Amino acid sequence: MHGPDLVRALQQAERVVVLTGAGASAESGIPTFRDALTGLWSRFDPARLATEEAFREDPELVWGWYEWRRVLMGRCAPNAGHAAIARMQQAVRERGGALDVVTQNVDDLHERAGTRGVIHLHGDIGSSRCADCGARRPPGDPHGEVPEGGRRAVPPRCPACGGPLRPEVVWFGEELPAAAWSRAATAARAADVLLSVGTSSTVYPAASLPRFALESGARVVQVNPHPTGLEAIADDDLRGRAGSVLPALADAAFGPSGADFQR
Ligand code: OAD
Repeated sequence: MHGPDLVRALQQAERVVVLTGAGASAESGIPTFRDALTGLWSRFDPARLATEEAFREDPELVWGWYEWRRVLMGRCAPNAGHAAIARMQQAVRERGGALDVVTQNVDDLHERAGTRGVIHLHGDIGSSRCADCGARRPPGDPHGEVPEGGRRAVPPRCPACGGPLRPEVVWFGEELPAAAWSRAATAARAADVLLSVGTSSTVYPAASLPRFALESGARVVQVNPHPTGLEAIADDDLRGRAGSVLPALADAAFGPSGADFQR
């Protein structure tokens, strides 16, 4: 599945970046966006749900849909892939190196698996801010059961200006949070190894990160059960699910789960 040279590259790397997308959380029960049938964008229209215009036009529809996703994500647990990434970060750190996790996911499963300093490029579904004055506000608890796809719900009002709260996520047409993007781009350019895990590599600027790493001479590894196009330029194409491929890679590079890291 992966050659000894990849294992050696990981063992010797001082700087590792793991870029994750929706596929990294799929085995936790969170739907991806573009997988056929199960992907959110094959069942829901992003133009009606994931743009500033959609929110202004129908805030109850958009807020209710995000409440559904927020509740769903809260009930899901990290999977073996998240755990393997956290374990690799720990091993690389113990050796004096750095492993940065850059995620396009708005869940907190990397954090709950023990990864530190996660860079969220597309925001955090557990937070919200006022759509008018921008003040950060806790979103509050959704009332009752949230059905599949959500149900219309009036967004809470900002206590300062009365504007509607919106989820703290990046919508189509919006800029990425500048500090997160800057950290991610710097980490990718400095990486010795970059793992691109569970992303279709279609949404920019996140999809530029493996290219930044390649341009700087890094080894780029894709982990995905399906081709995305990135495999054409990546050094390694590990076909499989994150929850299987990553634990095997972590075991091979840093010793089996629970064992002391071999220096
Ligand atoms: P996509 O849904 O576009 O891609 C998910 C990828 O995960 C696909 O390439 C799948 O083959 C792969 N996949 C599925 N199951 C997997 C598993 N168990 N292990 C590993 N890979 C698996 O999701 P993203 O690339 O994350 O943006 O989408 C990027 C952005 O588009 C999202 O952040 C979101 C969306 O619109 C915003 O909301 C701003």
